[in-house]
Formats: sequence, structure tokens, C-alpha cells
Amino acid sequence: MRLILLGPPGAGKGTQAGRLVEQHGIVQLSTGDMLRAAVAAGTPIGLKAKDIMAAGGLVPDEVVIGIISDRIDQDDAAQGFILDGFPRTVPQAEALDRLLKDKGFDLDAVVELKVNEGALLDRVETRVAEMRARGEEPRADDNAEALAKRLSAYRAQTEPLVDYYSEKRKLLTVDGMMTIDEVTREIGRVLDAVRAADAKKGAKA
Ligand code: AP5
Repeated sequence: MRLILLGPPGAGKGTQAGRLVEQHGIVQLSTGDMLRAAVAAGTPIGLKAKDIMAAGGLVPDEVVIGIISDRIDQDDAAQGFILDGFPRTVPQAEALDRLLKDKGFDLDAVVELKVNEGALLDRVETRVAEMRARGEEPRADDNAEALAKRLSAYRAQTEPLVDYYSEKRKLLTVDGMMTIDEVTREIGRVLDAVRAADAKKGAKA
């Protein structure tokens, strides 16, 4: 299975990707996690990304495309993956199309998590409180000012992907305002429906 999880900051992409990994035994490819690891390690990519991420902007396309291209090449991605936070711009989506084509991979679905913008700050603030309670340093971009910028980047650069994947008939929209368990069940239900439709098509062919 090869999936993309799409949604605004704090929509639940990382949470649901973690659950899909457990259910399906495939890998989660989170550009946000990879970039945060690069920042923590002080690599050249991390040094380039650090201030952009903290301010809530998007890291340049060529940087994230390079990261994902290297990661998809690794053996553990051969059986399938969930992309969490990539693609985030139309050029990234086009680069992904080329990568998948080169490897002979199909994209099964793009799951868009729809969440009211008003709920996102609450979720991000809850995460900050939870991280502090565990003795962890909160994310540099989990504050009201950076969240506003992340949201405006989402609207301007990522939301066009809804039409991009809808035109390719890959888009599945799920209500992300339900509880975490309910969202997980709904994602399972829509993916089962896609698999059943594919199996029917395969049987007819
Ligand atoms: P990234 O790490 O991808 O952050 P994001 O998209 O802003 O998303 P979050 O991780 O904040 O949220 P999420 O949707 O994963 O929600 P989560 O499950 O954590 O990117 C960070 C930065 O890296 C970007 O701003 C950019 O600078 C850079 N970057 C990354 N990829 C890039 C790319 N492709 N191109 C360019 N730049 C890139 O949940 C959030 C909280 O809500 C948690 O506390 C969770 O417990 C809670 N929660 C989840 N679901 C629910 C629910 N249903 N009900 C109540 N609470 C919930």
C-alpha cells in the first residue's frame, strides 16, 4: 500500500500514520520528522531548514524532494509507505509522480483529513503541554505565531493538491474532527472500499 496523508498542521497526519504503520506493517515517511532529525543533528540540510521551520515556512522543494527520493530508494520502502507531510506543493507532487513512475509503483490513495481551523491551535497547545509534561522540549513551530504561518502556507501551497489528486481520482476525504479512534476507523473504512473496488476491477479485467 502506498498512501499520502494530507491535512493542515495539527490535523492528525502523524497520529494516524503511526496507526496505519502498525496495522499494515509499512513505513511512515514523515518529512517533518526527517527535517527535525536533521536540525537536531546539525547536518547541512538541518542548518538550512532550522530557521524556516521555526518560522512556519516551507523548506525549499529541491531539499525535501531529495530527502524523499533517497528514502523511497531504501529497502524497507519497497513493500509500501505512508507519506506524512509530503508532498506539500504542486512541484513536490509532480516530482513524486516521476519517482513512483520510475520505480513502477502505484499510488493507492490520498487521504485528506479535514479539520476546522479553530481546532488546530488547541491541538498544538495540547501537544506542547504533553511534551513538557514528559520532560521534552516542545517543537519550535508549535506556537500561535508560527502556526498562523504554517496555516497560511498550507492554504496557499498545499491545498491546491486537493484538486490535483481529486482530478487523478485518488482523493479520499475523512472528517478529522472526530476522536482519534473514530478517525482511524473511518480511514480503515474508506481504504477498504478502495481495495474492494480495485479487486472488482481486477476480476472484470
Ligand atoms: P510537519 O512535521 O509535517 O508538521 P505539520 O504538517 O505542521 O503537522 P503536525 O506534525 O503539526 O501535525 P499532524 O497533522 O501530523 O498532527 P499530529 O498527529 O501531530 O512539518 C513541520 C515543518 O517541516 C513544516 O512547517 C515545514 O517547515 C517543514 N516541512 C515538512 N515537510 C515539508 C515539505 N514536504 N515541504 C516543505 N517543508 C516541509 O497531531 C497534532 C496534535 O493533535 C497531537 O497532540 C495529537 O495527539 C492531537 N490529535 C490528533 N488527532 C486528533 C483528534 N482527532 N482529536 C483530537 N486531538 C487530536
